[in-house]
Amino acid sequence: MGEQRSDIPPLGPPAGMQPLCVNFRTLLLLALLPWPGAGQFYVIGPRAPVIGLVGEEAVLSCQLSPSMDAQNMEVKWYRNDPFGLVHHYSTSQVDMEQQMPEYQGRTEFLKENITKGHVALRIRPIQLSDGGEYACFFESSTYYNDATFQVLVTVSGRAPHIHIEPGNKKDFKVTCMSTGWYPEPEVQWRNHQGLHLAPGSETKTMEGSGLFHVESSLTVDKSSRADVSCVVRNTILNVEKEVHVSLADSLFLEDFTWIVWLVVLLVLLVISVTICVLFLRVRKAKGKLQEEYGKPQEENEKLTAVECKPQEKNEKLTAVE
Ligand SMILES: *[C@@H]1O[C@H](CO)[C@@H](O)[C@H](O)[C@H]1NC(C)=O
Repeated sequence: MGEQRSDIPPLGPPAGMQPLCVNFRTLLLLALLPWPGAGQFYVIGPRAPVIGLVGEEAVLSCQLSPSMDAQNMEVKWYRNDPFGLVHHYSTSQVDMEQQMPEYQGRTEFLKENITKGHVALRIRPIQLSDGGEYACFFESSTYYNDATFQVLVTVSGRAPHIHIEPGNKKDFKVTCMSTGWYPEPEVQWRNHQGLHLAPGSETKTMEGSGLFHVESSLTVDKSSRADVSCVVRNTILNVEKEVHVSLADSLFLEDFTWIVWLVVLLVLLVISVTICVLFLRVRKAKGKLQEEYGKPQEENEKLTAVECKPQEKNEKLTAVE
């Protein structure tokens, strides 16, 4: 028991909250479990599930209680489903061929505090397949123990898009889409007051990358002219991405497209009227030209007619003579 007391102080503060919690848990363990004998120990894994963001790193730390030097121990991280070796630390030559191929080149053993029985495994970069149950296992020459914990792999997708299409005469179909989430995110529709609206349909599909695509549709009455938000939430990180749409605006948009068509029609009308007017003018001008070309001929005829008259007169004159 004297050993036990001398082991408590190193676990206590100086640092902030976390050491306090570890200390509390350690005390709880000490209270609930029989104290291990000489050379015996418990392994304490991460207190809460370890969250790994895809593409980032995750640190799986494990420690011995009571704290003791683990330099000469074997330390292994396993995962349970599928079962396999993630990393193996040993003073002797380690056969890392047993390491699961998907972890090769991605693990780093952090032994800065190994003399206090505190070690960690850094996995980088985290992949979707890394999620699941893990165990860290310590083995001394006389004793072994392990602890299991969860690794939750997650990624937040892109901000959602909203697509509005006319539904029946009286309503709209508002569809919210977002990709790149893991695990399946939650999708919620909210009105301007923050009240949840029930979606008409919702689909969550896994893409080739293993990430989820979500699509949720809401039917909104045209007369409501409400504002709605689509919120997609990563439930592990409690991170939300939201898109807001004002349906009054979209109504206006619809009117606007109608106006655009009207304007196009009017422009076409103006163009065709202009063409008609021009055409008529050209025809009128042509007609005038023809008239003008026609006149001189008539005048010539008149002239020749006039020219002939003196002859007649002369004839008359000669007749008189
Ligand atoms: C080792 O211990 C120090 C002091 O408690 C701490 O700041 C550091 O993060 C620890 N290193 C690892 C790899 O856990």
